[in-house]
Amino acid sequence: MYMRRQRKWRCVAAVCAVVFLYGITLLRTRTILTKQTRMHRPICSFDIIKEHCVKHNYFPTGGHWVKDKNGQEVFMPDICGFTESAINPKEAQNCLKRREVKRMLFLGDSNGIKYFETVVDLLNQTLSCKLEKEHHSPNFMPDVTYFTNGTRLNATDIVVHYRDCRQCYETLVVCSTPRGHGDRFTVKLEFLAMEYFLDTEVTTVRTKKQNNIGRAGWHHSTSTQEFIFSEYLKMQAYPDVILLFSSNHDKARNVLEKMRADMEYLKSIINLYVPSTTELIWFSILSEHNDKKPKAYRNRKYERKYAANEYIQLTNRHLFEVLLPEWSKRDSVIKPFFDIYSMSYGVLHWSTDGIHRERHWYRAVISRWLQTFCV
Ligand SMILES: *[C@@H]1O[C@H](CO)[C@@H](O)[C@H](O)[C@H]1NC(C)=O
Ligand SMILES: *[C@@H]1O[C@H](CO)[C@@H](O)[C@H](O)[C@H]1NC(C)=O
Ligand SMILES: *[C@@H]1O[C@H](CO)[C@@H](O)[C@H](O)[C@H]1NC(C)=O
Repeated sequence: MYMRRQRKWRCVAAVCAVVFLYGITLLRTRTILTKQTRMHRPICSFDIIKEHCVKHNYFPTGGHWVKDKNGQEVFMPDICGFTESAINPKEAQNCLKRREVKRMLFLGDSNGIKYFETVVDLLNQTLSCKLEKEHHSPNFMPDVTYFTNGTRLNATDIVVHYRDCRQCYETLVVCSTPRGHGDRFTVKLEFLAMEYFLDTEVTTVRTKKQNNIGRAGWHHSTSTQEFIFSEYLKMQAYPDVILLFSSNHDKARNVLEKMRADMEYLKSIINLYVPSTTELIWFSILSEHNDKKPKAYRNRKYERKYAANEYIQLTNRHLFEVLLPEWSKRDSVIKPFFDIYSMSYGVLHWSTDGIHRERHWYRAVISRWLQTFCV
């Protein structure tokens, strides 16, 4: 009896040892593998992001925020890596010059304008940036003269009506190398308000055929989106880069199915009018911080059942499905980026009022975007 028990224990011990040793080896290989993948992680590019979208059926969501050597939190995606924790102004300038970016357009709501301001601040450190034209609309009314200023558009053709975004404004900034600082380089940066995937805040109605706008003498833009892409931008050198920040306003006015239809519309307008020489990066919607919102907006339900962040994720899912066919094409002008919802959810503590964020957020996104664009 005793012998049998002893034998049994010896047997158990042997099995344990084998399992233990096997475990250790497994663990070691795992650590080595993780180290290797970390080392061999490819440098982030739009091609890698696009590949991920097609293979995993969503924008890349994995990643985390770590403190860099200056104590600043920076985003580290899972699927690829960056050589620097952030882009510096000189690199940004050199990259835009090298990639021959002469015009950049930013589209979005009050969050969108903060990304724009971040880029201007960044470039204004090594270049000299000056305001060319601007229109603030505290009365919620877009300004016709902003769109006619410097273009051949005729004010009598443009129809504007109230928008919902008080903090949205139109602005054009020109950044150039200061005199006596080597080769002249100039880049124009513009922000235009785009609160929805489809809206009628700025449209055109023409009652007489006009030859000054070419073949489409009768052309009417029935939406702000069509006006921007088919008329306003066509009147000047078309932007080389367009950053489209999906707005947080849409969900307050529209249901999911309507937003999806409007995304399809905006995609078709982009494909119709944006030249192949332009890159358009379409960002998903960032997360909100319920506790920081004013009381009147807190705990709001969408379609009577979804909390804000749940609804944003569903909207982003629709956006992804609408855009996915673009990434099977060889040469779509529309490029994907990391999932802004997941990225922003990791730094919810930067939320200032539930919707907007502290400056680090806009800097971090712009830095990662520029680094991806500049590889
Ligand atoms: C660029 O920086 C200068 C000097 O700090 C400042 O006066 C100017 O307003 C800035 N330009 C823009 C467009 O913000
Ligand atoms: C264009 O905008 C600039 C800056 O806002 C302004 O000084 C200029 O008078 C405007 N031109 C026209 C024709 O409205
Ligand atoms: C603008 O349109 C009006 C009305 O169609 C026309 O009388 C005027 O000449 C146009 N102005 C320009 C600069 O084309």
